[in-house]
Amino acid sequence: MNYRHQFHAGNFADVVKHALLVALVRALQRKDKGCLLLDTHAGRGRYDLAAAAAGDSLARRPEWPDGLGRLAEDAAGGELLADYLGLVREFDRGQGNLAAEPRFYPGSPGLLRALLRPVDRLVLVERHPAECAALRAFAAGWPRTEVREGDGYALLRALLPPPERRGLILLDPPFEAPEEFAWLAAAVGEGLRRFPTGVFAAWYPLTQRARVDEFLHAVSTLGPPPCLTAELTVAGESAGLKLRGCGLLVLNPPWGFAQVAQSLLDLLVPRLAQAPGGEGRLTWLVPDR
Ligand SMILES: C[S@@+](CC[C@H](N)C(=O)[O-])C[C@H]1O[C@@H](n2cnc3c(N)ncnc32)[C@H](O)[C@@H]1O
Repeated sequence: MNYRHQFHAGNFADVVKHALLVALVRALQRKDKGCLLLDTHAGRGRYDLAAAAAGDSLARRPEWPDGLGRLAEDAAGGELLADYLGLVREFDRGQGNLAAEPRFYPGSPGLLRALLRPVDRLVLVERHPAECAALRAFAAGWPRTEVREGDGYALLRALLPPPERRGLILLDPPFEAPEEFAWLAAAVGEGLRRFPTGVFAAWYPLTQRARVDEFLHAVSTLGPPPCLTAELTVAGESAGLKLRGCGLLVLNPPWGFAQVAQSLLDLLVPRLAQAPGGEGRLTWLVPDR
């Protein structure tokens, strides 16, 4: 359990994940009925980008300049990017940063909190004790919000199906362990058994295509509902980047989300490119009926 999201906060993968997450919640909230927003791997919820440059002991190159940093000055991203960027800026200002350079970045809990309506409920799960303590302190006093320390995969059994019968489950594990793809596929299976109409969003890294394809195949054997992947790469294969891209698997995507997701990918590809050959691709694994 060495993973600290602090070093990666605001990087290109966070930008892709969080821009899609905001769009997903907005699509879900087109209906007035309340829903559960469940973040199974929540992290600490708030990141100081200035601290990301000071590693545990050694200075390290911060990752946010190649992510959020590419967009912070960008006024040309249109309404779609403006939604995500507006929430990020509002958060930064709210935390006290008045400078032009971004300083405080909201993790998924910070974004979900900003999107929470009076009819919705937020549950945040984090296994790492220190991260969870920071999350608890950050989320203290939030309405209709519960923070749980524990295994987000195991807690799916206790938390699903939600009484609201509507919900979004974000699964965003650290991918430190070689078994993570298998755990994620099993968790998606368990989640679907308990809550077949739930919207599940699972983030994954594009490090090795074969492992991703194996994961998506495992999900397809679950007899899943309509589902799609939204993937973005920042470079072609020959660039030799360790993390070349990332994807979000979305099961039961709300109406209209696919179109918005494709537009977001199209906007983000040129902005986040690190070498030639990057692309954005939306693929239906099981088409919408
Ligand atoms: C990629 S980070 C989460 C980032 C966060 N979702 C965001 O977008 O801001 C993954 C987090 O999962 C935590 N974690 C690792 N294994 C876990 C598990 N089995 N259950 C819950 N949290 C876990 C790690 O400590 C880390 O904080």
